[in-house]
Formats: sequence, structure tokens, C-alpha cells
Amino acid sequence: MVQIDLNGQPTEFHAEAATPLLWALRCDKHLTGTKFGCGVSVCGACTVIVDDEAEYACQLTLGELRQRGAKRITTIEGLSGPVADALRQAWIDCDVVQCGYCQSAQLIAAAHLLAQTRAPSDEAIKTAMSRVLCRCGTYPRILKAIGQAVSRLGRR
Ligand code: FES
Ligand code: FES
Repeated sequence: MVQIDLNGQPTEFHAEAATPLLWALRCDKHLTGTKFGCGVSVCGACTVIVDDEAEYACQLTLGELRQRGAKRITTIEGLSGPVADALRQAWIDCDVVQCGYCQSAQLIAAAHLLAQTRAPSDEAIKTAMSRVLCRCGTYPRILKAIGQAVSRLGRR
């Protein structure tokens, strides 16, 4: 069993230790905003924040979480606060989304970036966001939206 703070709530996972976090979230907790893409740590569709790191949930098992003593998980359903609000509004203003499949992970990755870096350069944004692929090619609008969110937050 793994006890952890999930989106601000004390939570227990009872699945087997080998269960990937992605499936524990989607099947056990019904948090389906975190997506399955490749399943092999390539596409980033399953990105969540574990403690202060953006991680792929498809290859991270409950056993590993327990072993490392992880304390907090944030999924798209729990993403909140001024940075999340600024990003969501910028996503709307810049009309970022196409099919939407990768967008939970894009927002998680963007929120993680702005938690780590006050006003990232375009190059820093591109590097950080390269962890999440988008088959629809929304990259230019994601870049624009993150820049707009930084301005909206008064960081430049
Ligand atoms: S589903 Fe996890 S990286 Fe692709
Ligand atoms: S919006 Fe379609 S995969 Fe990214």
C-alpha cells in the first residue's frame, strides 16, 4: 500500500507494487486527465508532478513511489493556483488546443517549468516542453501561451 498526498488529499493506493502510477490514477482513482500514449517513457502524455519533479507516470510504479518516499502527486485535475490560472487563460487566448490529447501533460509540464523558472527564455521553454510530444503540432502556440502567462503573472 502507498500513502501519498494526491491533489491535496491524503490518498491510499492498494494496487500491486508493480502497477504503473498511470493506471493507478486512471483505473483506481478515476483521474483520467492523465493520458496513455506510448507507455514507454517517450511521448510524455502521462506527465504528472511527483514532489517537485515532472515525471512520466507510465513507467513509474507504486513500488518505486513507496521506495523513494514520495510525498505528493499533482495531476491535471489538481493543478491550481495563480500559475495554473494564468496558463489556462493563456491557453484559451492563444487557442492552443487541437485534438486535446496531449494537453493535460502540456499544462502540467508548463506549470512545472514556471514553478522552477520565473521567466524562462524561449529556448528554455522549448527545452522543457520537448518532454511532451504533440501530434497536432501545437508547439508554436504553446510557446506563445507560456510567454503570455509569464507576462500575465507580472514576471516580465
Ligand atoms: S505514455 Fe508515458 S511517456 Fe508516453
Ligand atoms: S493537441 Fe492533439 S496531440 Fe497535442
